[in-house]
Amino acid sequence: MSVRRLADDSIQPQAFAFSNDNAAWAQKKIAQYPTGRQQSAVIPLLWRAQEQEGWLSRSAIESIAKLLGMAYIRVLEVATFYTQFLLKPVGSKAHVLICGTTPCMLRGAEDLRDVCQHHIHNDPFMLNEAGTLSWEEVECLGACVNAPMVMIGNDTYEDLTPQRMREILVAFETGNGDSIKPGTQIERGNSAAEGGATTLLVPPSKTREKFSPPVPPATPEQPAAVAAPQAATSAAKPRDVTEESAPAIKGPAPQAKVSEAKAEGERAAAAAAANADGEPNRAMREDATGAESSAGKIDGGRAPGKPTAGAPSENASATKAEPVTTDPVPGSTALLVAPAGAADNLKLISGVGPKLEARLNALGITKWSQVAELTETEIAKVEGTLNFRGRIGRDKWLEQAKALATGGAAEYLRVFGKDPK
Ligand code: FES
Repeated sequence: MSVRRLADDSIQPQAFAFSNDNAAWAQKKIAQYPTGRQQSAVIPLLWRAQEQEGWLSRSAIESIAKLLGMAYIRVLEVATFYTQFLLKPVGSKAHVLICGTTPCMLRGAEDLRDVCQHHIHNDPFMLNEAGTLSWEEVECLGACVNAPMVMIGNDTYEDLTPQRMREILVAFETGNGDSIKPGTQIERGNSAAEGGATTLLVPPSKTREKFSPPVPPATPEQPAAVAAPQAATSAAKPRDVTEESAPAIKGPAPQAKVSEAKAEGERAAAAAAANADGEPNRAMREDATGAESSAGKIDGGRAPGKPTAGAPSENASATKAEPVTTDPVPGSTALLVAPAGAADNLKLISGVGPKLEARLNALGITKWSQVAELTETEIAKVEGTLNFRGRIGRDKWLEQAKALATGGAAEYLRVFGKDPK
């Protein structure tokens, strides 16, 4: 910051007066404040005087002090405190405020200052030869997100390069400042990511579709006596317990000697749980009734457990509901069939620890090759069951597992440039 003093006496005008329009505007502005508080109009009046003359002279400051019944020193304090007030004449076409605060400095503000020093004058507040341009360095102007930036008049020019800065100076110098569109000077919408959006690209409804497991069609033969209670019980339970009851999606589970009808019921439970994640779950309310807790209600009528013609009633089904599993290893119902042979060390996949490995094993996932070949649906199932949506993709489990399955640690090192953990 520079010391802010009034301009040299040699260039101070003898007198100042608002134009007729501005004088009328000033009276209106002063009248907005309660009697005895007219001094509150000091900043608007100083600003209007600067807009009229291009800068604030001593006579302008004295004139405003008189108008507001303030001591001259009080108005001078305000005028010298705020850097927005210009205390000496500046370029008649443009006075460039270069933000030099850290974000802009890190993004190239010093290069912009070099351009101004070469194109206008080496020193701030000094005019170019034609008297049309001047510059100064200021503190943050609030557009850091598109740093580096400058302000000219009431507009900001953002995402600047030295080349673009030069073009803007030439445009203002030749009276074509209006041809430059204020704001960002690159391809971005306001302060959005450069080059376009990178997140939230899929509408919420599509996201739900993507992550919801396929719901098998209901059949009249389906014994809802098993299916409906399972879905109802699971949807009404806390999420992690619900996910422990995820259904088999690749053939029968090794330990499960359940009938096809029971598997259908488990699928219904998973469907209800998945939908409960994206939509209001009435069954979770404290005041939910047993009827609301049925799979059909929770799922908005889409769950296969919804009673079909000829199926027993929900109440009748509820009496046959199987007890809630309290298996300490969530996901003990396998999603895949565990291959024969010794299990691979899944902990070599970055992001998988001993606990996750145990839970994956309980889901029937014991080999790197299984992880490498997980389908989108299976990923959704696993993530839903283990309650960490998006993590498999984020941590690149499939890529890591593929490398490990292909050539073990050596291939992992070749692909990722580091040893598996
Ligand atoms: S740091 Fe430059 S606008 Fe904020």
